[in-house]
Amino acid sequence: MLRALPPVGLPMTISDLRAGLASARDGEGAIAAFSADLRRTFGVEHVALASSGRAALSMLLRGLHLLHPDRDVVALPAYTSFSVPSAVVNAGFRVALYDLDPWTLSPVPESLARAVDHRTLAVVLCHLFGYPADLDLVRQVAATGGAFVIDDAAQAMGGEFRGKPVGSCGDAGLFSLSRGKNINALDGGIIVTRRDDLAAALESLPRLEGGEGTTRLFFKALFLSALIRPRLYWLPRSLPFLRIGASLYDPRFSREPFTPFQAGIARRMLARLPEVTAGRRGVARDLLQRLSGIPGVQSAGSAIHGESVCLRLPVMISQGRPVTENPLLGVVRSYPAPLCAIAPLLPHLVDGSGRYPGAELLAGRLLTLPTHQFVTPGDRTRIVAFLKK
Ligand SMILES: Cc1ncc(COP(=O)(O)O)c(C=O)c1O
Repeated sequence: MLRALPPVGLPMTISDLRAGLASARDGEGAIAAFSADLRRTFGVEHVALASSGRAALSMLLRGLHLLHPDRDVVALPAYTSFSVPSAVVNAGFRVALYDLDPWTLSPVPESLARAVDHRTLAVVLCHLFGYPADLDLVRQVAATGGAFVIDDAAQAMGGEFRGKPVGSCGDAGLFSLSRGKNINALDGGIIVTRRDDLAAALESLPRLEGGEGTTRLFFKALFLSALIRPRLYWLPRSLPFLRIGASLYDPRFSREPFTPFQAGIARRMLARLPEVTAGRRGVARDLLQRLSGIPGVQSAGSAIHGESVCLRLPVMISQGRPVTENPLLGVVRSYPAPLCAIAPLLPHLVDGSGRYPGAELLAGRLLTLPTHQFVTPGDRTRIVAFLKK
């Protein structure tokens, strides 16, 4: 029997789809109910929603720019999703990069300090693979440059930093509801903030228009819920035009409203997030225990800033060992290159000749292991055996 594990995944159930349909009938009431859940869960006063994480980030940057119109540079980790610089360029701003320490996945302090100055609108901190990164450091450096802090928890919903939910620790936070995230609603992006001035600025932006219809979304969700299962996942994986797992830099994405159908699904998923996270942590713990002592394989990231929510388990493969993927086991690289490698595509990158050795190491030597609920004990044994070879 053909079986393939997706690198990330969360089952979408028939009840989730039913909830989506009920919400679609409810319309704006469903959006309001989901927003209220988000405010309660993350302890924030304001929530804004969009069709994707990158659309939400673009919107957030436009809102922040209304508060600081003299600033146009956004500092990003040199290793992160290509969606992040896509959003910055979509919003019309310039990118500056700072390096990451591969062992903590947090910013390298000197590199971060170099990336922030009087032109910096915001510093984006991404909690990669679910590991809370060093928000204290980012807040301190951003404050010296008078820049805003964006707590990008697109990969870390449910995590905590010093007892507070990640995503809620900056001037604004970001979550993604796309397919590979902690919870998903096919797609979607969330901005959270406690700042009244920012909420008013976001309100004043032109309203998002368009969006996919409920019928189309329903069938997409139905296909997704079937194809994410290991018995069928080989099918979408083998269709190159779907570009599953590809890292794409594309600043010309659409910015549309989040729909009531998606709100219905996301609401149910948010309610089961603690249970889902506990499951992912259990798989990661088991894998880590069984991987300890394998020469040349070391855990990347560390829990020094809070326990990871284990969206994926990142491991570094030491120099001298080939970095080999096993897509059938969901063992894959993450982003193929540091952001400095796409510098020619980034208009007016600040300090385009900078070096980012940590980001280069992550792009070259990192593998991620799956932690989701389709990973069986037998899969874990096969993953460990694969990495031992
Ligand atoms: C750290 C980070 N921020 C933002 C985004 C953008 O989210 P979306 O895929 O929903 O556009 C992603 C997506 O992978 C991400 O990983």
